[in-house]
Amino acid sequence: MVPTWSPTSAQLHKEVERRRTFAIISHPDAGKTTLTEKLLLYGGAIHLAGAVKAKKNQRNTTSDWMELEKQRGISISASVLQFEYHGIRINLLDTPGHKDFSEDTYRTLIAADAAVMLIDAAKGVEPQTRKLFEVCRMRGLPIFTFMNKMDRPCREPLELIDELEKVLGIRSCPMTWPLGRGDRFRGVLDREKNEILLFQTEGEANVKGRLAPRAISNSNDQAFEELLGDDLEGFRAELELVDIAGDPFDLKRVLKGELSPVFFGSAMNNFGVERFLEEFIRMAPPPMERPAGDTTRNTSDPFSGFIFKIQANMDPAHRDRVAFMRVCSGKFERQMQVRHARLDRDIKLGMPVQFFGQERVVVEEAWPGDIVGVIDTTGSLRIGDTVYSGPRVVFDPVPSFSPEHFATVLILDPMKRKQLKKGLEQLSEEGVVQVYAQRGMGDREPILGAVGALQFEVLQFRLKSEYGVDVRIERLSYAHARWVSGTFDPAQFDREDSRCVTDRDGRTVVLFNSDWALRWATENYPQAKFESKTG
Ligand code: G4P
Repeated sequence: MVPTWSPTSAQLHKEVERRRTFAIISHPDAGKTTLTEKLLLYGGAIHLAGAVKAKKNQRNTTSDWMELEKQRGISISASVLQFEYHGIRINLLDTPGHKDFSEDTYRTLIAADAAVMLIDAAKGVEPQTRKLFEVCRMRGLPIFTFMNKMDRPCREPLELIDELEKVLGIRSCPMTWPLGRGDRFRGVLDREKNEILLFQTEGEANVKGRLAPRAISNSNDQAFEELLGDDLEGFRAELELVDIAGDPFDLKRVLKGELSPVFFGSAMNNFGVERFLEEFIRMAPPPMERPAGDTTRNTSDPFSGFIFKIQANMDPAHRDRVAFMRVCSGKFERQMQVRHARLDRDIKLGMPVQFFGQERVVVEEAWPGDIVGVIDTTGSLRIGDTVYSGPRVVFDPVPSFSPEHFATVLILDPMKRKQLKKGLEQLSEEGVVQVYAQRGMGDREPILGAVGALQFEVLQFRLKSEYGVDVRIERLSYAHARWVSGTFDPAQFDREDSRCVTDRDGRTVVLFNSDWALRWATENYPQAKFESKTG
């Protein structure tokens, strides 16, 4: 299929170059909601910033499961926020306010071109950040670090930098360096521009307006003496160490995900956020070509996109299913007829929408890097599906990630088996949980796996509210799931400390009780290959 109207290459190029699509990765409480809100303020999307903030307390809900979000103060759905800043179109893939994470959070990163790693400077690298970082690394995404909460007592900045390398194995280049910290936090030095940005609390800034940056010549500049007083010597020594030990800035390494530019600030006080945003826009890549088997699809090729997220029943009034599509190449237009690669037939993407807080807006056109919600009434779109016009393309599959929590699901009313089956099918397609069949049991007594434990609660809640099925979830003691290939006999793994099951696509998965059980199997069955993700 040829698009009904082809954009000129100049127009396409312009639209691609001005787009930045990224996600924020962090551990709960690091300040992601706060940072998101401040970023949105710069984009002039003040009403959206309000919506993000309000999420934690209370807001009008339009769907049942948002009720659960409200009760638990979490966000179950990863939302996509769009805003413009200085002519740049920003697509922020985010899970504001989350307290738990799911496979969905991982998958969102598959649709991003860069990641912002937000770290609480008092805590350093925390477990969820580490897991999400691994996914970014796997994809070679450029990672920009924001060390947050510098206004509070926190760890030594040099130690924080060191931790990035020791724990995550990524080199870093501090772009700004803090002048003091906690109650002695005076601001940051922009190392490249040789400017001091003075810290003001948000309250002060609102009264007096923002202070202009102060240019300095070097670290002997008198401005430091005035600012730092007794802390001056310590600061100079620290800065010398950063100059010697830190890596020089190298954009090529940043774009390969080998070097992370680091910024210090305080999201709550809106300090350091604007400089961060400016620099991020300057350095982060626009949408690029995307791998598809042995080839790649260039952004200038005819339209293509892939589905990275499915959400059913977002709006209870319609009970519809939204497939989130990342545009990879060409121009997307409303009512477009496209080829569905897996089904090998044409489909019409009739009602494309974008979400602004709770509101849906019909999308007339979209460009590479944009995220479009497609209302999929027939249920023909699945996570990982490619749609395209022009020459055929099938993007690399979206991986499944290894769950760490497992359970069985017990139905309270046996008459509702059919509904349970449908609910599990649809919710596992969305990635709420993974559903495994036990050997020889067909679809009876499936085992559920989840990346985050809260997903079971989400499942239970949604089965009841959307499918009318009451279930009891009973946790199992498995701790790891591995996809197995190579030479093996499934019966070998049905032991006291492991169990062999199959996933939705019929692949063999072994569940292990402990690290020890997993190690034992890998050592004793060298012919079998154990993988923690598929795709
Ligand atoms: P999250 O989405 O990553 O879970 O974190 P969130 O933004 O909700 O921030 C967690 C807590 O950290 C919030 O406090 C928030 O105000 C605080 N915070 C965020 N950035 C900064 C910062 O730069 N400095 C300081 N001192 N605190 C920061 P809370 O008491 O849990 O909530 P709230 O009542 O302030 O909303």
